[in-house]
Amino acid sequence: MTGELSPIDKAKFVAAKRASDFVEDGMRVGLGTGSTAAWLVRCLGERVRDNGLKIRGVPTSTRTAELAREVGIEVISLDEARWLDLTIDGADEFDADLALIKGGGGALLQEKIVATASDQMIVIADAAKEVEHLGAFPLPIEVIPFGWQTTQALVEETLVSMDVMGRQATLRMNGEAPFVTDEGNHILDLHLGRIGNARQLAMVMNQIPGVVENGLFIDICDKVVIGFGDGRVETR
Ligand code: 5RP
Repeated sequence: MTGELSPIDKAKFVAAKRASDFVEDGMRVGLGTGSTAAWLVRCLGERVRDNGLKIRGVPTSTRTAELAREVGIEVISLDEARWLDLTIDGADEFDADLALIKGGGGALLQEKIVATASDQMIVIADAAKEVEHLGAFPLPIEVIPFGWQTTQALVEETLVSMDVMGRQATLRMNGEAPFVTDEGNHILDLHLGRIGNARQLAMVMNQIPGVVENGLFIDICDKVVIGFGDGRVETR
């Protein structure tokens, strides 16, 4: 499954592999999105195939759904599952309080809904994702396409009064066209530099009309499994 991996891919793989040990027979599992989460899905697929592990997976994107089916995991919708035992997902940044920035892959909305509907959320990440202060990674904000430029202006105006360094909100592109999420929305990436009060920022952003959800995950993650390029793994 792995072949010869670069240090970064090895770090992602070992974190995913270790986290997959938390998945037990009969569980309903939220399956994250991104390159680290893809390793997790492959690891679980291997256990399904080789060890007869019986789980039902709720994917957080069409990409993850396709991969999960490909590796033999039974896929169900969140409405079928209603509540999940565990969600395992990647992150773009995490801090000492296990607050996260997510959405680099554009799946933050489904990811947040699924993680919130889980007894436990475990983040899998390479060590480079650990930060002292969130915000160096652009914060994704999912907005509806209608009037997105007005929403962008409102977001930037709101940032002026917040405890953040930057205030630029750029529309995420996919080549020449705006990026479109699985829910048919766009993403504004906020270039903040450093977020002082993440909890307040998350609440204020979600109050702006046109904003669907933001990529700050606060009090959602229970555990982080960190992989290193030399194959070491640390769990916090
Ligand atoms: C997707 C996400 C991903 O979990 C995040 O971007 C990390 O991705 P990767 O594992 O590829 O570094 O939030 O919306």
